[in-house]
Amino acid sequence: MSQKSPIKIAVTGAAGNIGYSLLFPIASGQVFGADQPVELQLIEIPQGLQSLEGVKMELLDSAFSLVNSITCTSDGDEGFGDVDYAFLVGSKPRGPGMERADLIRENGPIFVGQGQAIDRSAKENVKVIVVGNPCNTNCLIAQHQAKRVNPRNFTAMTRLDQNRAKAQLAVKSGAAVKDISRLAIWGNHSPTMYPDFENALINGKALTEVITDSEWLSESFIKTVQQRGKAIIGARGKSSAASAAWAAIDHAADWSRPTAAGEWVSMAVTSDGSYGIPKDIIYSFPCTVDEQGEYHIVPDVALSAAAKEKAMKSAEELLAERDAVKGILS
Ligand SMILES: NC(=O)c1ccc[n+]([C@@H]2O[C@H](COP(=O)([O-])OP(=O)(O)OC[C@H]3O[C@@H](n4cnc5c(N)ncnc54)[C@H](O)[C@@H]3O)[C@@H](O)[C@H]2O)c1
Repeated sequence: MSQKSPIKIAVTGAAGNIGYSLLFPIASGQVFGADQPVELQLIEIPQGLQSLEGVKMELLDSAFSLVNSITCTSDGDEGFGDVDYAFLVGSKPRGPGMERADLIRENGPIFVGQGQAIDRSAKENVKVIVVGNPCNTNCLIAQHQAKRVNPRNFTAMTRLDQNRAKAQLAVKSGAAVKDISRLAIWGNHSPTMYPDFENALINGKALTEVITDSEWLSESFIKTVQQRGKAIIGARGKSSAASAAWAAIDHAADWSRPTAAGEWVSMAVTSDGSYGIPKDIIYSFPCTVDEQGEYHIVPDVALSAAAKEKAMKSAEELLAERDAVKGILS
């Protein structure tokens, strides 16, 4: 049987908490397939390289048969060289007293440099998944630098929010997570995101007919999903890592295969003006992926007035973020 050609995968911040949880499933074939060899190109800042060597040793010790090579580097051109997928995870975490705007300004330059390195060195059809926060605007920054790559290939991760929302709904309804479909996240990966329960289904039936506690849905559920990241930090003393890594895995895997009939996946992608959301922001929409691995924003989703207001509020936040970084958008 002929073997598939290996694909090259870059992961930035590879020695960090999410990186550590993300690399092993990629190496084991759980993301790109059990017959898909991979070449791992792991990128860290110079201070992270020693720790990254330890991660490499553990990857080697796992004896993954699909891993053809592991490169550890601080050089963007080497790290992104010829890659098919790039997971942009590395960024500075929010420090004490730091506002969101400070975080955007601190992390923006990282994504300028990485966008430029992707432009110079990655495959033209590279698929980029931005996880490092503020991920929507970081994605916009990198995308603006990489003119050689189709802007559609830059996406940011709101899949963790979708997964969190489905899990909350499963607990409330007693249904299994797999029975909940069409639960889409709209907007920014921030507390303004809108988890749309109005269009979700449980076992094919309108979710609102199964969960009839409308106050819980419109208040408690939305708030729980929006504030889940903060709640995890409160409980663990650290930001979510394994669940974020699994969400990145879901995002990448679902972007590489057709979406199951009737299902949607939440992806933050370049707004094309659908639903009145301003263009040229990276906004999470319900999407489907076709046989060619192309995603499409789901058209004609019915949004109530309350839902539209929430969806627009998150867009306004993204416009303000874009404004804060306009000096580094080329
Ligand atoms: N989108 C989401 O749903 C989501 C969820 C959770 C966390 N996050 C974000 O993911 C990011 C990573 O989280 P973590 O827990 O792994 O953090 P971490 O601090 O454990 O790891 C980050 C790693 O990135 C490295 N790094 C920093 N700057 C870099 C650069 N310029 N190039 C390469 N590597 C660099 C650091 O050395 C560190 O090893 C954070 O920004 C976090 O807020 C996003």
